[in-house]
Amino acid sequence: MVRHDVPDGEENKNWEQFGRAIDALAASFPETGAVPLVLNLGGGVVSDLGGFAAAVYRRGVPYVQAPSTLLACVDSGVGGKTGVNHARAKNLIGAIYQPKLVLADVALLATLDPREVRSGVAEIIKYAVTFDNELFRTLEERMADLLALKKEILLPVVRQCYEMKARVVESDEEDRLGKRIVLNFGHTVGHALEMAAEFQLTHGEAIAVGMLAATRISERLGLCGPALNDRLKKLIESAGLPTSARDLLLRPEKVLEIMQRDKKFVGGTSRFVLIRDIGQWEAVRGVDMRVVREVVEELLA
Ligand SMILES: NC(=O)c1ccc[n+]([C@@H]2O[C@H](COP(=O)([O-])OP(=O)(O)OC[C@H]3O[C@@H](n4cnc5c(N)ncnc54)[C@H](O)[C@@H]3O)[C@@H](O)[C@H]2O)c1
Ligand SMILES: [Zn+2]
Repeated sequence: MVRHDVPDGEENKNWEQFGRAIDALAASFPETGAVPLVLNLGGGVVSDLGGFAAAVYRRGVPYVQAPSTLLACVDSGVGGKTGVNHARAKNLIGAIYQPKLVLADVALLATLDPREVRSGVAEIIKYAVTFDNELFRTLEERMADLLALKKEILLPVVRQCYEMKARVVESDEEDRLGKRIVLNFGHTVGHALEMAAEFQLTHGEAIAVGMLAATRISERLGLCGPALNDRLKKLIESAGLPTSARDLLLRPEKVLEIMQRDKKFVGGTSRFVLIRDIGQWEAVRGVDMRVVREVVEELLA
């Protein structure tokens, strides 16, 4: 077995660290000889970067995702999207390449920093809002137990989210039919905030604010009433996640500029996942950028 460590942090999900992972593979498993089996033990940074290395090394070698954060268990470990960030945009370089196996052992989560637990809960809230009213209600009732990683709630919730993601991915594995876009609920504004804040926010924290941006945009476009945003805000607060990005003192222009470089903007036109009600989402193209700007300004002010 050969071990290669990736230094901690989103800022290391980059081209340089990807190169080092490839160097480690090349040093231990050159073109001839044994085929490596890459085992990505870690959070989303490791699963994305290691998955991408496995996808392109010798045009693809088998790999296993062993997610060790809550976020990776319910999201990044599943689905085959791999890649690294570029200075100009998150996940700009990557490939879709499926693992042979996902080995999620929730016992690994016991050592997680509470902030990272909350970050994973943000993605769980994303699944609940877009797919499952019952899960949303469970989260409203049992948030404290979930944050405390109580097995009787953690296991079924992780399994349910994993299955929801797997169903979406199975319906559009190569991301050609536009079905996977639902998994980006909250991520259009969220990713831009994450980049603009230069990684002062965890992925989940940025997504929490991004989800509120999406429901506020939905409300302004008349898709839903204010009650939905209030309910989501309460749930996000109960998870100890941020409901605005005001403390970061970011300029709205910076966030909007980064957002427009995102893959979700095709030919300069926005694509947002918006919400009519819990479990009822809609992908909307060409949302008026004035509306988006107003909402971003509100969340930063
Ligand atoms: N590919 C996808 O479909 C997909 C989906 C969602 C998110 N992502 C990506 O995932 C990344 C975020 O993942 P993350 O939240 O897991 O972040 P992360 O990988 O940075 O892990 C968070 C922190 O937890 C630590 N850690 C990991 N496992 C631990 C454990 N068992 N005990 C204690 N500490 C542990 C890490 O060292 C790190 O400091 C982002 O880059 C995001 O873009 C990818
Ligand atoms: Zn995410």
